[in-house]
Amino acid sequence: MSNVLKCEHLRVVFGGLAAVSDFNIEVNENEIVGLIGPNGAGKTTVFNLLTGVYSPTSGLITLCDKDLKGMSTIERSHEGIARTFQNIRLFKDMSVLDNVMNSFNFKMNYTIFEALLRLPRYWKEEKIAREKAMDYLHVFNMENLANEDAGNLPYGSQRRLEIIRALATNPKLLLLDEPAAGMNPAETENLMETIVKIRDSFHVSVLLIEHDMNLVMGICEKITVLNFGEVIAQGTPKEIQKNPVVIEAYLGKKRS
Ligand SMILES: Nc1ncnc2c1ncn2[C@@H]1O[C@H](COP(=O)(O)OP(=O)(O)OP(=O)(O)O)[C@@H](O)[C@H]1O
Ligand SMILES: [Mg+2]
Repeated sequence: MSNVLKCEHLRVVFGGLAAVSDFNIEVNENEIVGLIGPNGAGKTTVFNLLTGVYSPTSGLITLCDKDLKGMSTIERSHEGIARTFQNIRLFKDMSVLDNVMNSFNFKMNYTIFEALLRLPRYWKEEKIAREKAMDYLHVFNMENLANEDAGNLPYGSQRRLEIIRALATNPKLLLLDEPAAGMNPAETENLMETIVKIRDSFHVSVLLIEHDMNLVMGICEKITVLNFGEVIAQGTPKEIQKNPVVIEAYLGKKRS
């Protein structure tokens, strides 16, 4: 199985404190991998390192064997990393369809004059992009919401739209930061099916941060556990569930 993401000895220090240290992980093709740990463990910081929001103090990140060192967030998006955020980020006053179209990584070939004058090439390319965006919405049964303002959608649909926007960049690796946060059990159940469907239909690897243990244990093939910025365990859901170090650090404690 080939390697999509690899982190080796990743470390980042903020004001003298290591938020993440000696972080190692491998995510293979078509794998769904969980990243768990108590609040403040460094999970979102790992995503910020992967996406180039922060530069590591030391360590290596490779995507399909390519070193990402020095690449900006946009360059990493072009390389194939997409993410969703712990707090939803959408263009709330724009339609659902425009939110998706806005995410495409490909360049439109019309000039600004062709757009302003609404010349044929503008319409042709807009039509192709619109049809493609509708295809994405269709996969998630959201095509009937295409013309709604994103901000008016129910919470679960906003989270789904954020995932569609990430997918529309055509990633190799999809990073989901607490996708089930704020969802009710039915929405979470639906989300679990959606994530598996995404992996199967889009052939994307998924690394997800989540506090909902049903979701993590239900769909992740491998799990990495962080505590105080350090990896304290890695393994299958079964191995993680019975690991005493994990139980003490995380599973045994109630979330604050
Ligand atoms: N830019 C920054 N400057 C200083 N400290 C930071 C910065 N970003 C993160 N931290 C610190 O790093 C630690 C890990 O934070 P992080 O947000 O990665 O945790 P988390 O595991 O995602 O937690 P949660 O489950 O609550 O989302 C925290 O102590 C946080 O305050
Ligand atoms: Mg976080």
